[in-house]
Amino acid sequence: MKKKKMLLTGVNGFLCSRVAKYFEEKYHVIPLTRKELDITNHKEAERIIKENNPNIIFHAAAMSATLPCENNPELAHKVNLDAALNIARVAKETKAKMLFLSSEQVFNGNTNEGPYGEDDKAVPSTVYGETKLKAEGLLRKELKELWILRLSWMFGLPEKNVPNNPNLLWKSLKAVLTNQPIKISTNEYRGITYVYDLIENLEKIFDLPYGTYHFGSVNEESTYDTAVYILNKIGISKEIIDRVICRDDEKHRDQKRDLRMDYNKIISKGINIRTSQESIDRAIKEFDFKL
Ligand SMILES: NC(=O)c1ccc[n+]([C@@H]2O[C@H](COP(=O)([O-])OP(=O)(O)OC[C@H]3O[C@@H](n4cnc5c(N)ncnc54)[C@H](OP(=O)(O)O)[C@@H]3O)[C@@H](O)[C@H]2O)c1
Repeated sequence: MKKKKMLLTGVNGFLCSRVAKYFEEKYHVIPLTRKELDITNHKEAERIIKENNPNIIFHAAAMSATLPCENNPELAHKVNLDAALNIARVAKETKAKMLFLSSEQVFNGNTNEGPYGEDDKAVPSTVYGETKLKAEGLLRKELKELWILRLSWMFGLPEKNVPNNPNLLWKSLKAVLTNQPIKISTNEYRGITYVYDLIENLEKIFDLPYGTYHFGSVNEESTYDTAVYILNKIGISKEIIDRVICRDDEKHRDQKRDLRMDYNKIISKGINIRTSQESIDRAIKEFDFKL
């Protein structure tokens, strides 16, 4: 049987580098780094997509960190919004399906409590969140064959020849390894999701009706408590944990930072959602990271 073609943008990134490896046998994968396709070059994006004629476009290229977007909002709009819209336009022309990756950060200005559903009003308060939310709206108008996944904060562990991201597990471990204490908010609530929980569900996601879905892990604990949970599970002593993971009770004290999302829509379509604690246990087991 002829393999389906999946074109991936942003393949040197944390998520896409792992996705490309995971699917390299099963799909005809067309992995594109920024060097091979700078997505802000609309003509080049059009040429490459038309030349390859993929069945699915896995669009992961983005300015994915908050600070660079704040520092350069114009570029953030070009990359996260204009370029994504151009790709959706070409997807429509070439009859490709598209997966667009959005974020829990579309809710970071909400003052009402989470967990937020897909139909709840999202109020972004950063350039990153704003570009993602605006892109969602424009892409929906442009392309019907579109899945939008709003992802919570993902984590992974270092692997050969792929980058890691600034995630809670690695950040907490680095604090232990370098003996450099870090402050973590006791007033922040968000899902912490193992990157392979997403990757292993992708084929099922490609079978979902088109639309917007929240995906991640359920976490009722604060980010501080989650960091303590991680190190405890790895086998770090309480004494060391207490020394390097410091409570930040001040940050978000007046307004709790609540980025929790409701996953009932995707669960109702047969996708399995873990708790962050199950997700952390799984990663530690898979990487045999217990001391
Ligand atoms: N990781 C998370 O926790 C998380 C959570 C929610 C949503 N997301 C979304 O998921 C997607 C993947 O995230 P990630 O963590 O894998 O991000 P990442 O590691 O920052 O990867 C993004 C990739 O996009 C590339 N890129 C940036 N500008 C580009 C341009 N103009 N043309 C082509 N490529 C460009 C980067 O290239 P270089 O390598 O050359 O810099 C990088 O490889 C993003 O859309 C992100 O917003 C991620």
